[in-house]
Amino acid sequence: MNNQYRIAALPGEGIGLEVVEATLVILQKLAQKHDFQLQIDYGVIGKSAFQKYGSYFPETTAQLCEQSDGILFGAVSKGGLLELRKRFDFFVNLRPVKTFPSLIDKSSLKRDYLSGVDILFVRELVSGIYFGAAGRGEDTQGNYGYHTMQYYDWQIKRIAKVAFAKAQKRRGLLTVAHKENALPYLPWTDLVAEVAQEYPDVTVEPMLVDNLAMQLVINPQHFDVILAGNLFGDILSDLGGALAGSVGLLGSASLNEAGFGLYEPIHGTAPDIAGKNQANPLGTLASAMMMLEQWGERDAIANLQAAWNKILTQGYRTRDLYSQEPEILVTTQELVELFLEEIEN
Ligand code: IPM
Ligand code: MN
Repeated sequence: MNNQYRIAALPGEGIGLEVVEATLVILQKLAQKHDFQLQIDYGVIGKSAFQKYGSYFPETTAQLCEQSDGILFGAVSKGGLLELRKRFDFFVNLRPVKTFPSLIDKSSLKRDYLSGVDILFVRELVSGIYFGAAGRGEDTQGNYGYHTMQYYDWQIKRIAKVAFAKAQKRRGLLTVAHKENALPYLPWTDLVAEVAQEYPDVTVEPMLVDNLAMQLVINPQHFDVILAGNLFGDILSDLGGALAGSVGLLGSASLNEAGFGLYEPIHGTAPDIAGKNQANPLGTLASAMMMLEQWGERDAIANLQAAWNKILTQGYRTRDLYSQEPEILVTTQELVELFLEEIEN
């Protein structure tokens, strides 16, 4: 029997629609070529879900996800995503950032600082300030708003474990983002040190998050695995996008304890180019590659990776990456066609 997988496709809004469609076409080609089967079920999330069901993350969508082997997500401008992450306890957010030789000039940083950059951000995704007590109020000084950054110690330790396991299989360096000089009740350094006992082969490097942001710019080659809470991980990983050359290139996997996952590009809905056949589908494709990895479809990954390298090396670029000849400007669809040809051969 061939392997069979069900994908819950949640394109969302804006360029989410185009990049998910592009990725699914390429995935179907890989399935055909490497003898596995894909069943794709579409669900609504975000604004379109709200218009139809009065909820940004309706129960029908949740159930569709529940029955799937993986969720492929596009982008939403507002609502739905945090609920989706929480519902399935996707506490692990993996955001790999690598510089690619033929794209190295796309970053604003100097080439010498960028070659060989290979960073894995491990971001906590279902707690912290995005999920703490929040609201608006009024007192004698006026109207105010608040969001609370709260973490259970066990939440910090469970994400730390994941980061250690990743570092162990990489270069063995784990940098921990924290802000203990201002937020002493969130002692990431001590909690991570407790977990470190189980991973003696990993070097732990706690770093104040403000300094970490600077170090990422002045010495990106230093880093291996970076562990961060929800908010810091969000901000730092966009900085990672600037190292890679375009945020449009980066994918991510959000996993729960069971290894079930949500796969999404780290870019947003890009309303200015939505529906124009200009969007870069590579971030979503990179996310899909992480889904294939989770399923253990090694041949398909190797094929896709080879196609990716070849197409970029040949100079094909969507608009976000195009600067001048001899680069070749392509539309989203043209890029998909190139992938289909490469995968076939
Ligand atoms: C991301 C996004 C989301 C986040 C937004 C859309 C809530 O910026 O996935 O990085 O902050 O987690
Ligand atoms: Mn973000």
